[in-house]
Amino acid sequence: MMRIGRLYMSKDKHIAVIGTGYVGLVAACCLAKSGHRVVAAEKNSDKLKQLQGGVMPIYEEGLSDIFTAVTGDGRLTFTSDLKTALAHATVLIIAVGTPSLADGRVDLAQVNAVAVAIARLAEKPLTVIMKSTVPPGTGKSIFKRYFSQAKVPIQYVSNPEFLREGKAVWDWYHPDRLVIGCAAPEVADQLIELYSDIEAPKVTMDITSAEMVKYASNAFLATKISFINEIANLCERVGASIDAVAPAVGMDKRIGPHFLQAGLGYGGSCFPKDTKGLEHVSVFNDYNFNLLKAVIEVNARQRVTAVRKIIKALDGVTGKKIAILGLAFKPGTDDVREAPALDIIDYLISEGAKIAACDPLALVSAKQRFPTEDIQFYTDPYQACRDCAAVVLATEWPEFVNLDWEQIKQGMQMPCMLLDGRNVLDKDVIKRYGYRYEAFGRN
Ligand code: UGA
Repeated sequence: MMRIGRLYMSKDKHIAVIGTGYVGLVAACCLAKSGHRVVAAEKNSDKLKQLQGGVMPIYEEGLSDIFTAVTGDGRLTFTSDLKTALAHATVLIIAVGTPSLADGRVDLAQVNAVAVAIARLAEKPLTVIMKSTVPPGTGKSIFKRYFSQAKVPIQYVSNPEFLREGKAVWDWYHPDRLVIGCAAPEVADQLIELYSDIEAPKVTMDITSAEMVKYASNAFLATKISFINEIANLCERVGASIDAVAPAVGMDKRIGPHFLQAGLGYGGSCFPKDTKGLEHVSVFNDYNFNLLKAVIEVNARQRVTAVRKIIKALDGVTGKKIAILGLAFKPGTDDVREAPALDIIDYLISEGAKIAACDPLALVSAKQRFPTEDIQFYTDPYQACRDCAAVVLATEWPEFVNLDWEQIKQGMQMPCMLLDGRNVLDKDVIKRYGYRYEAFGRN
């Protein structure tokens, strides 16, 4: 390692990144920006073509500029061929998908396939870094089943990511901690060097504990959200206001102010999958994780509660037009995976409603999900809300929060219901415009 000023610059490493989803692409771009030479492997040929043609397949704040810079100077290249990526690398990052199976179990098919191929194709010593989220115990098993049999030495590291979609580049450079799970201190040192330009505590531990840190962190954050949603529901019943309660609870430093925003609950590719995955790990290990089950149930119930509020306000939704503002699971992303809006749309359509859906970024992905005539898609929220009996603010995009709600109301049909699914609008102003305003626990 050489020292430049106050910064330690790591020597360039040759890195392969397998998988170019949110995690893989951010890792590949940011590591290339740090000076490493990165080859990223992508097996989807359309996506590969896009990447090789300089087109970003996802929206992620700040990533496009880095992508252009590092592909421009050749520090980041793409291939479909794992063998090519391996031939280049001394360090390999696995960042392939680990989706949920129908029963909630984590589908490790892609991870296992990559591990088998690495063990078969590696021809020089390699450090494999697992960034895909895998259940506790997976790393040890992968090492034993595949890597310990390889013809060259392969080191295995669990290095979970804590990147938020939409803020992933910021989070890459400013993590609260870097978790490094491995069997030997010299392997941890390699990662500490790899991340030498990132100022954060580097916490080393065994592989299974590192895997558990990832699940425990996401499960705890999901628990905070479901907890505050329960309190909001109770606030409604006892006449308290969650707007007063949540911030005051969060001022206790032991609790903290984050993830106490009540509303439609969590969505996305991580919390739903990881809570269900951890629940399954518990069942498999003969443990009844009651708290986690309740977290999952409460989250699902929030969506049903939203639909019930709409049906009640409209006295049934058959034949009525309802606008859904926001399809992405949160603002700042085009990702609609497990987004509350999608379930709400499904419920409302099954009750006979006509849906006008609007989102600044996520229309393309949402259209694939709803091949039905019961839903129309809009880029303009004012047009979407026209002639609607109810509007659901499902994602707190700033451009939706700051709409001219007085103007929207003028184009609507009675009872002009506005369901503020994220508790973000000024309810007094909204009520003054004549809306029938509903939210979660805002008395
Ligand atoms: C989450 C974690 O925050 C990251 O640390 C983690 O790396 C990532 O999962 C992952 O496992 O890869 P992300 O899914 O991008 O990141 O989204 P968050 O910003 O955490 O929000 C998740 C959901 O919770 C969103 O639907 C959001 O609307 C909801 N939420 C969040 C609430 O309903 N209330 C809150 O107070 C906070």
